[in-house]
Amino acid sequence: MAATTEELLALHERVRACTACPLHATRIQAVPGYGPVTARIMAVGEGPGETEDREGKPFVGAAGQLLTRLLESVGLDRRDIYITNIIKCRPPGNRDPEQEEVEACSHFLDEQVTMLDPDVILVLGRHALLRLLPGAGGISRLHGQRLRRGDRAYVPLYHPAAALYNASLMDTLTADMQRVRGYLADAEAARARRAQGVGVVGASTTAQPDPSDQLALF
Ligand code: URA
Repeated sequence: MAATTEELLALHERVRACTACPLHATRIQAVPGYGPVTARIMAVGEGPGETEDREGKPFVGAAGQLLTRLLESVGLDRRDIYITNIIKCRPPGNRDPEQEEVEACSHFLDEQVTMLDPDVILVLGRHALLRLLPGAGGISRLHGQRLRRGDRAYVPLYHPAAALYNASLMDTLTADMQRVRGYLADAEAARARRAQGVGVVGASTTAQPDPSDQLALF
């Protein structure tokens, strides 16, 4: 059964109190995630930046504003999407997250995916890709594609922050986002079919490498 808002907020409180890795010592505050527990779409980025660290919400800086515009360009309101990151605390100077930090934070993302059970996860950037689809391939090959794991679709996309600094990535990200619209329509139709009694296949919270990845791309 889907989680309740109270359960999701209780998880957020645990994130805010977390001291499992050294990042807790340098953060202003942890950034658990934001959005309704009923969201069918989840977006997962890398980790909070300076603005997010200050405000306690994900993707509220320049990259976040671009993400909002990209979502709007395909008719999505970010308030309908649950947005989070693979790590919940800002690495000093916005450096890449370290493996131990990703591992220490890992269970929170797993719990979020289990609680929401989203139809579609937008995988923002190479760090999120490595965390959610280990072994699937790199972002330059997989961006804009849809990878199925159980009933869930994962869509790797270039990170909006990368697109801010590279005009050609911006064009690619914008084009990939247009494909997301079709993926969402398909996901909705599949959900409706399942609701009509077609069997539900259990999906793991962290997608396992799929030997038939090429076939799973659709
Ligand atoms: N970049 C991310 O990956 N996440 C945020 O929340 C903000 C910027």
